[in-house]
Amino acid sequence: MSKRPAKKTAEKKGPEKKGPEKKGSAKKREAEIPLLRVRGLGRRFGEVDVVKDLDLEVKAGTAVALIGPNGSGKSTVLRCITGTDKPSEGEIHLDGRKLDERDPRIRAALAVVMDDIDFFPDLSVVEHLDLFAHAHGVADADTLVDDVLQDVGLIDQSGQLPGTLSTGQRTRLALASAFVRPRRLLVLDEPEQRLDSQGLAWLADRLNADKADGLGILMASHDQGLIDAVADRTVELRHR
Ligand SMILES: Nc1ncnc2c1ncn2[C@@H]1O[C@H](COP(=O)(O)OP(=O)(O)OP(=O)(O)O)[C@@H](O)[C@H]1O
Ligand SMILES: [Mg+2]
Repeated sequence: MSKRPAKKTAEKKGPEKKGPEKKGSAKKREAEIPLLRVRGLGRRFGEVDVVKDLDLEVKAGTAVALIGPNGSGKSTVLRCITGTDKPSEGEIHLDGRKLDERDPRIRAALAVVMDDIDFFPDLSVVEHLDLFAHAHGVADADTLVDDVLQDVGLIDQSGQLPGTLSTGQRTRLALASAFVRPRRLLVLDEPEQRLDSQGLAWLADRLNADKADGLGILMASHDQGLIDAVADRTVELRHR
């Protein structure tokens, strides 16, 4: 990958501490602000509290996995965070700013791959990725798209329409569309779906590389191997 979001500079400790003490502590506080902070999140459908009083934090450079049985509310939480559903209660802050998906700064920071993958039927694989990269103002989009196509193993399929892809290749295209755009927080709903073992290994490496670049990751997953390989913490949801 040739383009990465800028790394967050780690605070360095050394014997020659320059500048006033105040500045250092302000920097430290800034580093402690989580990328994503969810407080008291609730989502009610009719009489049923599908999600209630959920607190969650994702710090830059870390991954959090939402786990729990089918129907326990993982996708609902992710939809509330990505703005496609409205919480009944609670607050969501991204980078210290209240979440508002109309805010271009929020949209620029948030890359989302949900389980309801949808593509334009008459745009090829490479045209999809070009569209995403250009829409997000990526410099040297062509090189990045080529790198990502190589990375996800879709070079040979780059001219195909989405309808002709295998199911695993469709998952790879959905993931690729998140990797060709700028992002600070990556939200993934069961990204393991339909991937073969080579694809799963690639995904784990790719997500760990994003973490090393200072991104935050929040993913719902049923794949213990992926969770063990990538997640720093798990948050378990239960049926209510
Ligand atoms: N719009 C809606 N209206 C009514 N009920 C809903 C709605 N959206 C979700 N639900 C219900 O909320 C519960 C949680 O669903 P959700 O999709 O968040 O589960 P999940 O943990 O992601 O499950 P899975 O592991 O199967 O993906 C389910 O019982 C679901 O039927
Ligand atoms: Mg789900």
